[in-house]
Amino acid sequence: MNWNTVFFVLIAVAYYMSLPKLMPSVVTTGKLNDSYDYIIVGAGSAGSVIASRLSEDADVSVLLLEAGGDYTENENFHIPLMALRLQKSESDWIYYTVPQKESHWGMVDNKSYWPRGKVLGGSSIYNTMQYTRGNRYDYDEWAELGCEGWSYKDILPYFLKSEDMLIESLKSSKYHNTGGYLAVSSVGVTPIADVYLQAGMEMGYDIVDYNGEIQTGWSPMQATTRNGIRSSTSVEFLGRINGRSNLHISVRSMATKINIENKIAKGVYFIKDGRKMYIEARKEVIVSGGTINSPQLLMLSGIGPKEHLESLGIDVEVDLPVGDNLQDHLLLFSSTNITEDIGITEEKVNSVQNKIKYQLFGTGLYAATGLDGNGFFCTLETDQKKCAPDIQFLMLSLSLEHNMLNLKEDVANEYLNRPGSIGFATVISLVDPKSVGSIRLKSSDPFDYPIIDPKYLTDRRDVDAYIRGLRLWEKYISTPAMRAIGANVKKMKLSFCLHHEFQSDAYWECIVRHLAATVYHPAGTCKMGRSDDKTAVVDPQLRVKGIKNLRVADASIMPNVITGNTNAPVIMIAEKVSDMIRGRDTVQHLRRDDV
Ligand SMILES: Cc1cc2nc3c(=O)[nH]c(=O)nc-3n(C[C@H](O)[C@H](O)[C@H](O)COP(=O)(O)OP(=O)(O)OC[C@H]3O[C@@H](n4cnc5c(N)ncnc54)[C@H](O)[C@@H]3O)c2cc1C
Ligand SMILES: *[C@@H]1O[C@H](CO)[C@@H](O)[C@H](O)[C@H]1NC(C)=O
Ligand SMILES: *[C@@H]1O[C@H](CO)[C@@H](O)[C@H](O)[C@H]1NC(C)=O
Ligand SMILES: *[C@@H]1O[C@H](CO)[C@@H](O)[C@H](O)[C@H]1NC(C)=O
Repeated sequence: MNWNTVFFVLIAVAYYMSLPKLMPSVVTTGKLNDSYDYIIVGAGSAGSVIASRLSEDADVSVLLLEAGGDYTENENFHIPLMALRLQKSESDWIYYTVPQKESHWGMVDNKSYWPRGKVLGGSSIYNTMQYTRGNRYDYDEWAELGCEGWSYKDILPYFLKSEDMLIESLKSSKYHNTGGYLAVSSVGVTPIADVYLQAGMEMGYDIVDYNGEIQTGWSPMQATTRNGIRSSTSVEFLGRINGRSNLHISVRSMATKINIENKIAKGVYFIKDGRKMYIEARKEVIVSGGTINSPQLLMLSGIGPKEHLESLGIDVEVDLPVGDNLQDHLLLFSSTNITEDIGITEEKVNSVQNKIKYQLFGTGLYAATGLDGNGFFCTLETDQKKCAPDIQFLMLSLSLEHNMLNLKEDVANEYLNRPGSIGFATVISLVDPKSVGSIRLKSSDPFDYPIIDPKYLTDRRDVDAYIRGLRLWEKYISTPAMRAIGANVKKMKLSFCLHHEFQSDAYWECIVRHLAATVYHPAGTCKMGRSDDKTAVVDPQLRVKGIKNLRVADASIMPNVITGNTNAPVIMIAEKVSDMIRGRDTVQHLRRDDV
């Protein structure tokens, strides 16, 4: 056999073994029953997990409704590096905020573009797979605010329950676990990953496990992938239990209203393939539509701020602050050229070698998320071992070429790189935001998108924290390890802010107000709190106050958004509420006293 033959045989094998094709598929249901014990609305990070756990009890029946389609419809759902290519596709809700007054000045109409997954798996199919839990201070604060049962000690077992840690050095850590559904892997496949950590140490920080005892410091990336495939909640929690007869999954089914009679949730109205349907819930309705859609569905059902609902002609069932307390993290891509070609480039991605590597072994650049390093910092504290971080660095190993941010054309032309450049971006994320916004209905039509106003940077403290973050970045980019690869601050010298002195506080403030955009972690719009807490929508059991048999479980229940990326925390919330609903403790063996 000559080399050509070998080559073609390899390609043929690669095609037939194509990794995503080997994934478990999931049976969706065409013909539905008239009633189920539980109806779950939304099959995202939370809903897929809850459906999987509740249906472990063979004597209960469960219906999972998802507005989007099946996850087998697009191979890119499962290939880590293709994550950003999904944006603005058919499976994206494509939300925009209202024009922002204090931020997004470099964006078209001052609007922030919010991609959200509309597919079986929800945003767990859209995210960039960073596995982050937040820290003990986040959850201890929830508990202090009256959320009994949600302290760090209480919730850690639920992170452990879902985890399948595949990184060898972390398998035996008491902060990690193996054998769960959600895989956690190491994805640092480019040599630049080592430079990130080296520079971090030169800056004076320790290398830590950011999901372990101390969050602050530098770490290699932990990502939710398994054998080079995205570990989405739908593939892992639903695909692997495919065929369970007491669980029905209905896609392209958009819930429009919860039927409430005498303050009891009775069932769900939804539209499937253009047809109006109604199905009854014998026990409970669980709303898991995410931070935008859960408050929308509650308000459409008469649960929300009284005056707002009345102004739209919606009958009020219960007056609650639904849609308030919207919190989100911002990101700023601090971009630099480099002289050493050690990151990810289009050319390397498109090489035949790289393609075969992925198809055959699930390795190579397609298996990478692009994010290869992480730093958490407390910019106001001196003792980095005992503090709650306010700034996060995420290291993106490619040069910024695509306009993912709704940038105005002239801003994009100057700020983004031409295709073929080599560089990387430090994604500076504001992880302790003080600005608070809201979600409201535009009308009583369920197909009208809600009004999203995060009010970014309206609290001065957020701007100050960002400037401290940029000072840290200046320090980082000046370390010997960074200088050695040719990194520098020049790429951030941008004409639209040069009426201020470059690198002055006023200059960085201008940059932040122009270019900071969502890092996709909105939370808090159906806030959890004590039953007598006037700002809360759900109690610590996630039951909607004043309505029986109705819960909300997803990112919207966070009283305060956690310090970091939100996917794993939402899965933890789903694991915990599943135990509450089932009335059992499945994590006794995972409780640890010494954490
Ligand atoms: C681009 C992007 C990158 C991200 N990167 C990361 C990351 O690297 N790491 C990380 O930890 N987090 C990341 N996140 C955030 C994380 O993915 C989300 O916080 C998390 O997925 C939210 O889960 P959820 O269950 O609250 O909502 P979702 O996962 O969004 O699920 C909501 C589901 O409900 C469905 N739905 C909504 N309304 C209805 C209705 N009326 N009827 C029927 N179905 C409905 C939706 O279609 C969707 O499937 C990212 C998010 C995005 C968008
Ligand atoms: C949008 O941003 C510009 C600054 O570029 C600002 O002058 C303007 O007031 C903003 N528009 C709105 C609607 O807030
Ligand atoms: C649907 O109804 C049939 C017929 O009554 C029943 O056998 C089946 O268990 C039901 N399935 C679910 C998931 O409720
Ligand atoms: C970065 O690299 C690109 C492509 O090589 C080049 O056009 C650009 O001028 C460089 N920018 C800076 C600030 O060095």
